Amino acid sequence: MIFIHFTACIILVATCNGLITHSKLLGRSVKPLLFAETVESVSNKAPEAEINRRRNLAIISHPDAGKTTVTEKLLLYGGALQQAGAVRQKAEQRGTQSDFMSIEQERGISISSTVMNFDYNGKRDFSEDTYRALAAADNSVMLIDSAKGLEPQTRKLFEVTRMRKLPLFTFCNKMDRPALSPYEIMDQIEAEFNLESFPVLWPIGDGDRFKGVLDRMENVVHLFIKSVERGGKADVQQVPMDDLETLEKLIDDKELFDKLLEDRELLDELIPPLDMDRVSAGDLTPLFFGSAMTNFGVQLFLDKFLEMGVKPATRVAVNKDASSDDVLTVSPEHEEFTGFVFKTQANMDPKHRDRLAYVRVVSGVYEKGMKVGHSRSKPNKKYNLAQAQALFGSDRSSVDVAYPGDVIGINNPGCFAIGDTLYTGSNRVAFPGIPSFSPEKFSYIRSPNPSDYKSFRKGMDQLLDEGAVQALRQRNDDGGGPLMLAAVGQLQFEVVQARLKEEYNVESIMEPLTYSLARWVNSGWDAVDKADAAGKLFGIMIVQDRWKRPVLLFRNDWKAASLADEEKYLELAPWSQPPDFES
Ligand code: G4P
Repeated sequence: MIFIHFTACIILVATCNGLITHSKLLGRSVKPLLFAETVESVSNKAPEAEINRRRNLAIISHPDAGKTTVTEKLLLYGGALQQAGAVRQKAEQRGTQSDFMSIEQERGISISSTVMNFDYNGKRDFSEDTYRALAAADNSVMLIDSAKGLEPQTRKLFEVTRMRKLPLFTFCNKMDRPALSPYEIMDQIEAEFNLESFPVLWPIGDGDRFKGVLDRMENVVHLFIKSVERGGKADVQQVPMDDLETLEKLIDDKELFDKLLEDRELLDELIPPLDMDRVSAGDLTPLFFGSAMTNFGVQLFLDKFLEMGVKPATRVAVNKDASSDDVLTVSPEHEEFTGFVFKTQANMDPKHRDRLAYVRVVSGVYEKGMKVGHSRSKPNKKYNLAQAQALFGSDRSSVDVAYPGDVIGINNPGCFAIGDTLYTGSNRVAFPGIPSFSPEKFSYIRSPNPSDYKSFRKGMDQLLDEGAVQALRQRNDDGGGPLMLAAVGQLQFEVVQARLKEEYNVESIMEPLTYSLARWVNSGWDAVDKADAAGKLFGIMIVQDRWKRPVLLFRNDWKAASLADEEKYLELAPWSQPPDFES
């Protein structure tokens, strides 16, 4: 099977000199982690300038809204020129690269080190990797196709950004096509997500009459002179909003000019001033309009994002050596290196059977060859991080140093799993695991050939460790019973089957189940028994997750919602956090 590379979420790390920073503490405000003095006390502290100039972002959207196109344009403006084509090789886009070289040099912005595409696809689907990517990012960008408004997968991804309280920027793309009214898009966001938006760039017209945007922060209109070539650089003319005479002449469309004046007045009246604290807390989304394909508004978006996005955030963790279960905060400025694994993948290069762990650096500096502890290994066991790679789509290049906010790929000795923490220094730091989200597809899987059983088990164990899918089993099954796979998209099953075949040379048979939703029962097995005894779980399947915690499978949303409503003691949750790892 050939997988076409496709993306449901992209992570970028941008660096910029001389930023205005809006820093933020994520999570509860608790004790800062103080690193114990160690004999070998060589500081791994990251230079403040490196921390302050980094902004990472995860771009999320429904397929086809334009992530790949926006990413390419961000890269072009951000200076990762030769790599831009790695996102999607296109002759005409490569041809535009030189246009941007001078911009990059002038502005000192560079989008570096990391572009990660999540998902394989030929089928427009998405997987849990998409969710996990959000665990590694500090900012998120919701991309909307302006003709379509909010779409189903945007909604799912939004739930994750909300759970993480990530700052969310909204970019309404494809304004060069007939679009919904910007007010309608704002209403949709507010009605569906209970999220207010703050228009930063406001569109003037749409489709063939898309003239440009009003930058409401600067009170300047950016008028775009359309380029002849598709994907070519657009020329921009800036006119102060108060210079009505010039504006009217250049917009050259009475109806749009009048509408701009009216919109400006209305927005100034209706929208309260921008509250950056609310943006940082994910309560208010700065809203942008543009057209990535024709380069309208992407550069402006990048500039504003660099100002408004949060720098690499402080994260909560536990100190596994402490006798109390104190929650600690690890800030990017801490003396030691810490990072967590949010994706693993084996056999990326079939010739080498390599295994990679993708690590998000939280504090300190990664340096080539450094030795780190691992949250689930014995305290004095150290691993040598001999080599790290920056990832750029399917390309990789070696990196010697990485700072908080960066994502690096390291060789996985086999024991690094999703959610694990790597650290230097004497404190055994462990960040909380990455949650699992409600799967929507369920299927038994087995090997048709008993003689393949060993390879089948080995392959499945590897794929489950990687988090390629979730595994569920019947209650009290210690591993001998039927294995049920659960995924957020059908494609995950196909990937599992294809990889079993390609990498472990085993066939597999899937037997799909008709359930479409899972809920974890946070109040435990006693609560499940109580509901079962009262006849409340009719038509619902009771299973356990890999940590033997109760999970209920439902055939539809309605059934899950009504059970949650009627039997509150069950404490049904659509996602679960892995328990703290054992030593
Ligand atoms: P995705 O990664 O979110 O799935 O979206 P992608 O960037 O691949 O864009 C999906 C389609 O939308 C592509 O067209 C792309 O050219 C188009 N597109 C992206 N941004 C804009 C925009 O601002 N305006 C318009 N009009 N179209 C846009 P395609 O036909 O699927 O592919 P291609 O032949 O153009 O590559």
